[in-house]
Amino acid sequence: MRTLVIASQKGGVGKTTLAGHLAVIAEQNNYGSVALIDTDSQGSLSSWWNERKAETPLFANVDIANLPQHLRQLEASGVKLAIIDTPPAVTETIHLVVAVADLVLIPTRPSPHDLRAVGSTVEIVEAAGKKMVFVINGAASRARITGEAAIVLSQHGTVAPVTIYQRTEFASSMIDGRTVQEVNPNGKSHNEIMDLWKYLLTKLR
Ligand SMILES: Nc1ncnc2c1ncn2[C@@H]1O[C@H](COP(=O)(O)OP(=O)(O)OP(=O)(O)O)[C@@H](O)[C@H]1O
Ligand SMILES: [Mg+2]
Repeated sequence: MRTLVIASQKGGVGKTTLAGHLAVIAEQNNYGSVALIDTDSQGSLSSWWNERKAETPLFANVDIANLPQHLRQLEASGVKLAIIDTPPAVTETIHLVVAVADLVLIPTRPSPHDLRAVGSTVEIVEAAGKKMVFVINGAASRARITGEAAIVLSQHGTVAPVTIYQRTEFASSMIDGRTVQEVNPNGKSHNEIMDLWKYLLTKLR
């Protein structure tokens, strides 16, 4: 089993959106059983999952203090990928979750505030000696700042060669517990999520 942690101390960057989308695309691409874990007290990911009609991905309720044991149980039950969503703050939770990661995905919006805030997340991941990848989320089409953001981020670490654009369907598809690939399988958003997943797959090995 692999554990993908989605973390960013900055709020509203797309952690929960990407957690749900990546879990669904991983299963659609036959990665195997995927379990979602929500460690954010806001509970956005669990609320999304509760709206969901499909039975997969699985949702695992875990007690963060016993996270390693819970992950071992999931692995024993046949789960191939655990995706953990995290809260937007540097808390004890973040340290405990990053400690169990095989890979940390750090979504970042292409804005000066978001880029300046990225350092504190990077510090936690580096202190834990974990692999990390940035992904730019919520980009506007043809905006110069997207390329500039990628340059700034690349000074801290690896940037995914896939940009997720700002599209209403990333939000609207999640209203009833689905994802863009389930609502609009022929859309550009689906392709972006697919490309991001394929890239992450190379990093999760
Ligand atoms: N690429 C996108 N295009 C359009 N809307 C997006 C995109 N990514 C995220 N959103 C919207 O932006 C808002 C914040 O996204 P999300 O909740 O995933 O971020 P988060 O990092 O989990 O936030 P928090 O830090 O509060 O947990 C949500 O309303 C979501 O629907
Ligand atoms: Mg969230």
